[in-house]
Amino acid sequence: MKNYKIAVIEGDGIGREVVPEGIRVLEAAARRFEIGLSWQHFPWSCETYLKTGRMMPEDGLEQLRPHDAIFLGAVGYPGVPDHISLWGLLIPIRRTFKQYVNLRPICLLNGVVSPLAGRRGGEIDFLIVRENNEGEYSEVGGRLHKNTDLEMAIQETIFTRTGCDRVISYAFELAQSRKNHVTSATKSNGIVFTMPFWDERFAAIAKKYPHVKADQYHVDILSAHFVTHPDRFDVVVGSNLFGDILSDLGAAVVGSMGLAPSANLNPERTYPSMFEPVHGSAPDIAGKGIANPIAQIWSGAMMLDHLGEKKAARAVENAVCKVLARRDPLTPDIGGNASTETMGKAIAAEIA
Ligand code: NAI
Ligand code: MG
Repeated sequence: MKNYKIAVIEGDGIGREVVPEGIRVLEAAARRFEIGLSWQHFPWSCETYLKTGRMMPEDGLEQLRPHDAIFLGAVGYPGVPDHISLWGLLIPIRRTFKQYVNLRPICLLNGVVSPLAGRRGGEIDFLIVRENNEGEYSEVGGRLHKNTDLEMAIQETIFTRTGCDRVISYAFELAQSRKNHVTSATKSNGIVFTMPFWDERFAAIAKKYPHVKADQYHVDILSAHFVTHPDRFDVVVGSNLFGDILSDLGAAVVGSMGLAPSANLNPERTYPSMFEPVHGSAPDIAGKGIANPIAQIWSGAMMLDHLGEKKAARAVENAVCKVLARRDPLTPDIGGNASTETMGKAIAAEIA
């Protein structure tokens, strides 16, 4: 029997409510497919920060390193600035472990009502490949003349050839197992250095895949197309910032933030990859037991897939689809009144 060591970081807010349901469902799959999953919990969060001044211990990354994967809920809580929770935990993990691909499926599943009129299950099905290690989210910049009229802030965007090429290549490789179509999100009309460079790298990589259709849109009209023609897309590749924004828009058009999973992948498998929902810690509903656990559960399916446990991954996805298709139970975000736990248990029961 294969045994996998999984590091668990529930984090803050609804992270603590949805992660246990993710584990419940993955355990059900593990039992059925005779896989061993050993979970090691790391209680790192904004609460830890308020007590210790750090989101994770100084050797936190070394503690995570020996695991086969990381299963994360969400971080962020009122009282701790968001850049501290993000840069104190998530971003160091994504960068140190070279998780340069952030893969985010956007699928409208049967039984879920899209806010877009007339769209039915199966009609929207594409993948966002977000650059996850550089771009607009950089530590290069600074502030001058603080608290004076001359106060200023500069934030530099960093695009490297290696960084662009590897994520764009990943998108093209992925498209070959799908509909052979890659769309690039750009903004080279307004952002005159980094974005034309991104376009050049996109064109250079596209040349290596002549049988894959390659097109590009400025991110403003691309976001409009996510609403008016979401059926046009297969694989959409974008920079860190564009991919981040587009994936929340994608989640919204397929019904709920509570349904959108993601994988932070180190494709070379030199380091552990990390699996977490697209959504954050949702302080507005935290503690009520009503968060939708599907984004977390589906992220777990992506983890099983990455670990090579394809059958177990498909079983988790099928269980999610079955429960959604019969529309019972449903959490409030998708039109029901079930609790997080009821939803998790129903999906786990489908697998067993
Ligand atoms: P959010 O994703 O936490 O919430 C946005 C909206 O979606 C809220 O109305 C929330 O109730 C709803 N929502 C989110 N997940 C849901 C679920 N599973 N079921 C039902 N409804 C759900 O984004 P927001 O409000 O911008 O950020 C809240 C905190 O989370 C902030 O501190 C932010 O920095 C952090 N955050 C953390 C992320 C991470 O850990 N990867 C990602 C995004 C935000
Ligand atoms: Mg985001």
